[in-house]
Amino acid sequence: MMRVIRVANYQEVSKKAFEEIKTIITVKPGAVLGLATGSSPVGLYQYMIKDHQEAGTSYADIKTFNLDEYVGLPKSDPHSYYSFMHHNLFDHIDIKEENIHIPSGEGDLLSQCELYNELLSETQIDIQVLGIGSNGHIGFNEPGTSFDSETHIVELKQSTIQDNARFFDNDISKVPARAITMGIANVMNAKKILLLATGENKASAIASLLMGIRTENVPASALQDHPDVTIIIDKAASSLLYKEKR
Ligand code: GLP
Repeated sequence: MMRVIRVANYQEVSKKAFEEIKTIITVKPGAVLGLATGSSPVGLYQYMIKDHQEAGTSYADIKTFNLDEYVGLPKSDPHSYYSFMHHNLFDHIDIKEENIHIPSGEGDLLSQCELYNELLSETQIDIQVLGIGSNGHIGFNEPGTSFDSETHIVELKQSTIQDNARFFDNDISKVPARAITMGIANVMNAKKILLLATGENKASAIASLLMGIRTENVPASALQDHPDVTIIIDKAASSLLYKEKR
């Protein structure tokens, strides 16, 4: 079942998303959170940091699993998702380093995929946060990825490299061409899914997700079969769903 919450802007998307996470960690302080990178969840992470620093909420028992990582970037590289997550969230809350899981895109990649699948099979994610690519990708599962896929290595599409170049000084040649990502089957295994999208650039992907058919050409459309999905979008991302009243 997919529930859609439409709010005015990025700030409100972030606030609503935080409320969803807060409800879960209040009931279950040892909750397992599936986390995402990209711009979409950064506002949510800021609310979590505020919750820890100002309201005193402890995240010490929380466990996290990130969706993906670039191939070939060491953890210490400022562009790695490892760095991104520490900079935008983990360094500012009391989470234990051993409770943080991010796939590694270094060394023997097949073993890294197996290792991550093994870790994921030992637990169930309580809530998986997702952004969405402008081409409908989730994690780094590009169009055409099997809905049965588990953690695997992907060749990034040109449009994804282009979209993510803004994190690499707008230099396409600096964006890694490959990534390691949880597969669609891993994502579908989460108890609850929380997908965040803002901006005009996401309107077509959101329309395909909500109004299109379930097809591997639109990876996010796999979610149509998930029992508990909440999609929080702003006006711009929903602009192809509604006709505005004047
Ligand atoms: C990247 C990430 C995805 C993310 C997507 C959208 O490709 N691997 O997990 O959802 O970008 O990013 P943004 O939220 O910055 O638009």
